[in-house]
Amino acid sequence: MAKTKYVCSSCGYESGKWYGRCPECSNWNTFEEVTVPDTPKKGRFGSVNPSQLLTPQKISSVKLISESRVSTGFEEFDRVLGTSGFSEKSSAGIVAGSIILLSGDPGIGKSTILLQLALGLSDAVHKKTVLYITGEESEHQIKMRATRIVGDEELGNSNLLILSTTDIDMAAEVMIATKPDLVIVDSVQTLATSQLPGFAGSVPQIRYVTTRVVSFAKTNNIPVFLVGHVTKEGIVAGPMLLSHMVDTVLYLEGDQLTGTRILRAYKNRFGDTSEVGIFVMEEKGLTQIQDVEGFFMNKQDEKVPGSCVAVVMEGSRPLLVELQALVVPSTLSFPRRVSTGLADRRLELLLAVIQKYAKVPVERMDVFVNIVGGLKISETAADLAAAVSIISSFYNKPLPHRAAIGEIGLLGELKIVPNLDKRIREAEKFGFQNVLSAKSGKFLYNVVQNMYGKKS
Ligand code: TYD
Ligand code: MG
Repeated sequence: MAKTKYVCSSCGYESGKWYGRCPECSNWNTFEEVTVPDTPKKGRFGSVNPSQLLTPQKISSVKLISESRVSTGFEEFDRVLGTSGFSEKSSAGIVAGSIILLSGDPGIGKSTILLQLALGLSDAVHKKTVLYITGEESEHQIKMRATRIVGDEELGNSNLLILSTTDIDMAAEVMIATKPDLVIVDSVQTLATSQLPGFAGSVPQIRYVTTRVVSFAKTNNIPVFLVGHVTKEGIVAGPMLLSHMVDTVLYLEGDQLTGTRILRAYKNRFGDTSEVGIFVMEEKGLTQIQDVEGFFMNKQDEKVPGSCVAVVMEGSRPLLVELQALVVPSTLSFPRRVSTGLADRRLELLLAVIQKYAKVPVERMDVFVNIVGGLKISETAADLAAAVSIISSFYNKPLPHRAAIGEIGLLGELKIVPNLDKRIREAEKFGFQNVLSAKSGKFLYNVVQNMYGKKS
């Protein structure tokens, strides 16, 4: 007799009984009943034929094969996907037969960037056949977007095929019949099979859709991009199991106000996960920003109070970012501390250190901190730049040092951060001499004294 089990549609937790609230992820009303097919009883060898046992190989005799990669047409995208490096001819981009999950908030630009990539690969120069399967939009909508991106004339020579369907079985058959060079499935939550109960986006459906896509990619050695939406909580909507089933999980995030979009890899079987790609959303889709150094800074050379440049590492790349601070007397009993791009707790901590150890009385002040360009900084290497820009705004005096790199400890001490010399060289390359760091003084209060000559 077929058994039933219950599966949480949010995190994939399985249980023999139904729960109103998932014991794993604490979401309410997420349990769905799933029928488990009977498995036939097997002996010691199960379905294995004892005369056909596989022989494990010595690692030394395993041959190294350099994965062949296809460029996405965006260096910023290729960098995130990774490089195959052990031959002289290293190539970056999409690995044949790999499944790449592209996740992100609705409206962030997932469909746009994949359509741009598809149009580039299928144009008159590259001549690849790309199959774009959409469960969200009609062929007409995709055409309108494509016309907006490259213009009507370009589309005349394109090898891009569009299929609008929500039936995964149909989609999979079309993939097999077409055998394109690349498939895009937009999105995993909108396709479903009629062979299973449950609506599109439920755990069994997502599992089914992904399994079909994975088996297509691996059998035919054709890469597939799978789009997945993200819930407000920031996890891939639907189960975590989706990320386990794919080779690479990319996340497109950004600031709606500035148009900056950052592409990160959270999991990558074929590359490093620390690299990021930087784009900006414009009228004709996303444009990659390769001159990143200047991008996160204001285009002014004058020294102004409250501004300092930090050098943060994004993957192997040092990035110059400008921090701006505004400090004004507060009329509130709890002064405001507002930060964009820097964690609120970090700001609170820095203000406490500034108050106690740099002896700058900020406790009755409203403090606003902003990172130019919409980048979010998680590195403590920006502490010193944040602290001195706050102090500079407090005294309303520009900083003699326009760049600062260093972590600040709870005792007000300055700490050397990893890759300090590399960061300093990068700042110097852009004309920031005399960079403030833990080399300039042991404590925050020393550097403040040197800058403004305040006695403590
Ligand atoms: P979209 O790719 O549909 O997002 P997702 O697939 O992640 O849900 O992006 C939609 C947004 O992008 C929409 O708000 C309009 C904007 N956009 C531009 O600004 N310029 C463009 O050229 C295109 C195609 C979209
Ligand atoms: Mg979309």
